[in-house]
Amino acid sequence: MSYTKKHVKIDLWPEKEKEKYPKNRETLKLITLQTLLLMCSICLILLILLYPLTSPPQTTKFTSSLPRTCHQNFTVYVYDLPIEFNIGLVKNCRHLNIYTDMCPHVANNGLGQPLRRGGSRGTWFATHQFIAEMIFHARVLNHPCRTFEPHNADIFYVPFYGGLYASSVFREQNLTKRDELAVRLVDYVSGQRWWKRTNGLDHFLTIGRTAWDFMRLGDQDTDFGANMLMQMPRVMNMSVLTVERQPWKGVNQFGLPYPSYFHPYTSAEMVTWQDKMRRVERPHLFSFVGGPRKGLEKAAIRDELIRQCAGSSRCELLKCQSGGSRCHDPMIVLGVMARSRFCLQAPGDSFTRRSTFDSMLAGCIPVFFSPHTMYTQYMWYLPDDKRSYSVFMDNKNSTQIEYELLRISESEVVKMRETVINLIPRLTYAHPNATNYDLPDAVDVALETLAKQARAKALYPL
Ligand SMILES: *[C@@H]1O[C@H](CO)[C@@H](O)[C@H](O)[C@H]1NC(C)=O
Ligand SMILES: *[C@@H]1O[C@H](CO)[C@@H](O)[C@H](O)[C@H]1NC(C)=O
Ligand SMILES: *[C@@H]1O[C@H](CO)[C@@H](O)[C@H](O)[C@H]1NC(C)=O
Ligand SMILES: *[C@@H]1O[C@H](CO)[C@@H](O)[C@H](O)[C@H]1NC(C)=O
Ligand SMILES: *[C@@H]1O[C@H](CO)[C@@H](O)[C@H](O)[C@H]1NC(C)=O
Repeated sequence: MSYTKKHVKIDLWPEKEKEKYPKNRETLKLITLQTLLLMCSICLILLILLYPLTSPPQTTKFTSSLPRTCHQNFTVYVYDLPIEFNIGLVKNCRHLNIYTDMCPHVANNGLGQPLRRGGSRGTWFATHQFIAEMIFHARVLNHPCRTFEPHNADIFYVPFYGGLYASSVFREQNLTKRDELAVRLVDYVSGQRWWKRTNGLDHFLTIGRTAWDFMRLGDQDTDFGANMLMQMPRVMNMSVLTVERQPWKGVNQFGLPYPSYFHPYTSAEMVTWQDKMRRVERPHLFSFVGGPRKGLEKAAIRDELIRQCAGSSRCELLKCQSGGSRCHDPMIVLGVMARSRFCLQAPGDSFTRRSTFDSMLAGCIPVFFSPHTMYTQYMWYLPDDKRSYSVFMDNKNSTQIEYELLRISESEVVKMRETVINLIPRLTYAHPNATNYDLPDAVDVALETLAKQARAKALYPL
């Protein structure tokens, strides 16, 4: 029976984490020979995932830290904002989110809690999905192309932790109060000398939550808690990088990758990981990690995916029940993805999913059911040819996922996976204190593209 294997629990937590999360442990029932064999292959993958960076001869671990040099032809200036717009929010981490204590998540410049020995110097962290703004900030502060001279800067970074702010005021009924900090930020920035030079066209924000949280609709009967930051005319003159842009109205919004769990310190660590993902055994054709969603129309597809995955012996299902911890265990999630050739990415509460970035990190080819999960979002980061790194299914062909995926030839799968694995560095947030790291990461790609845009705007003003 294939049923058993889908429910095998893989415990990839390092020793000390196990003690902290005793409820995560379940007993394994070894029933059939098939299960046993499967366990062996899981153990292998487990070893690979647990010790991804131990063996490589090319690791330059003990060379002293070389400051990175600015290879790109631009400079970025970072505003030193009053702390209420960033650090002040972090200090209030216990009350930033009604569902979660954010304190463990804002630790280590937003990387969160280390997953392996090595503390904050490690490369694996339980990074929160909505924390890109903090990591981005830490990376830019240490960026070799940062300048302290605003008069010769190409782009101006406004390090506002808008996502943390948004979640802290979701429940605020008084709309004036809900918008207060956003209004104050925009007043502050637009009062600066360098803003006035271009009316903010060379200024940018990075936001770790979706644009929907900042685009309150006028007379909407349902209040989702959004504020109006991204609708303020002055903000619409800026570039806004967000993990999910509003696909139709967000002309000044640009997709920023969700952070995953891997934050390498050196290029060698990244290259080693990519090699592991090339070589890992992938016994499953496809997998789905996720839970059902109620009510939302665009998430209806989820029930269908869960049904098809559960009904296929070629699919591994990690079903997230409400309050279930397995889906929040990074190593379990990555383990499922690293064992699959394709990873289904259904829309959830919104179009995009952090899971897409987890799956690509695991070298798993993403399968999309909405163009807005990836294609209309992260244009700066992806090849134009969508088919080269992903599969798209509409209402019709998504009724037989297994059949459609089996039609893709083995050589095509290998080629697509290679493209996915080659994209990993661009989609990754390198460790903010990384040394000897010279592969362009998510932050480098963003800064370089922003600088190009700013130059184009200066040449051809709107
Ligand atoms: C670098 O950018 C400046 C404008 O900021 C431009 O004049 C120069 O030609 C660029 N150099 C290269 C090598 O692209
Ligand atoms: C990076 O280095 C700074 C300065 O030493 C330190 O304060 C910070 O915590 C480090 N960040 C991480 C994620 O370890
Ligand atoms: C909402 O908050 C603002 C600013 O604090 C205050 O002036 C206003 O009276 C409040 N409105 C209501 C209806 O409480
Ligand atoms: C946005 O920029 C344009 C072009 O510089 C300018 O004309 C316009 O007044 C600016 N809008 C705001 C609200 O500052
Ligand atoms: C499913 O159908 C859509 C629209 O006809 C097409 O773009 C897509 O490539 C198809 N997917 C597969 C896997 O054949």
